[in-house]
Amino acid sequence: MKVFCGETYEEASKIAASIIADQIKNKDNSVLGLATGSTPIGTYKNLVEMNKSGEISFKNITSVNLDEYQGLDGSHDQSYRYFMNTNLFDHVDIDKSKTFVPNGSEADDVKACDDYEKTIASVGGVDLQLLGLGHNGHIGFNEPGTPFDSKTHKVALTESTINANSRLFASIDDVPRFAYTMGIGTIMSAKAVLLLVTGEDKRDIIDKVCHGPVTEDVPASVLQNHPNVILVGDKAALGDNFAAELR
Ligand code: GLP
Repeated sequence: MKVFCGETYEEASKIAASIIADQIKNKDNSVLGLATGSTPIGTYKNLVEMNKSGEISFKNITSVNLDEYQGLDGSHDQSYRYFMNTNLFDHVDIDKSKTFVPNGSEADDVKACDDYEKTIASVGGVDLQLLGLGHNGHIGFNEPGTPFDSKTHKVALTESTINANSRLFASIDDVPRFAYTMGIGTIMSAKAVLLLVTGEDKRDIIDKVCHGPVTEDVPASVLQNHPNVILVGDKAALGDNFAAELR
């Protein structure tokens, strides 16, 4: 695992964006795995600026997102499709027909998940997967206990995730209880992974993820078994726990 630490959230976002930009420069038709949540917003802002200044182009890029709430269609302002449009896709030269998010409005979960795995296979798999981290170590919506070989599947969100995400909805009752997510096996088949972790509230969990045992109780700990992971964090999240590994 390569580890980079920015002094602040802004600096970490710049580092993450430059890693994604290098991927695009090296392979202009890359397949990017993208993530939602508050953590990557700064990274997307930087990518938008780099696109506007002509440093990078998304013209030939394909993207696949990690997850989507079941029951929300793309026009709902809390759907992950809406998040991606407003934080990135609407502001760069990407061909939206090549941006994929699990279909939250598909009620047949077997179909929604099979279709999504087929989509990922048909674009040739993910070159670089961006990941945030949940407080319980979840990646995408893969909560503790999810099998490491899981493919895209329907999940019941845990109380802690529902509570964490309720800040974004009018009331906790409005938070969807189910989601479709890439599985851990799906995530692990990406050629490279960029794990972005910021904020003091993630300090303990990122230490556990990287330095604790590899266990399904801490979903992201599986990344210790991935051959090509880059961790980008800020001082608040990494603290002194990664001093020996810093680049
Ligand atoms: C959500 C998303 C995850 C995300 C996590 C952390 O549950 N499904 O993909 O990584 O929350 O979010 P944040 O970056 O807002 O802390």
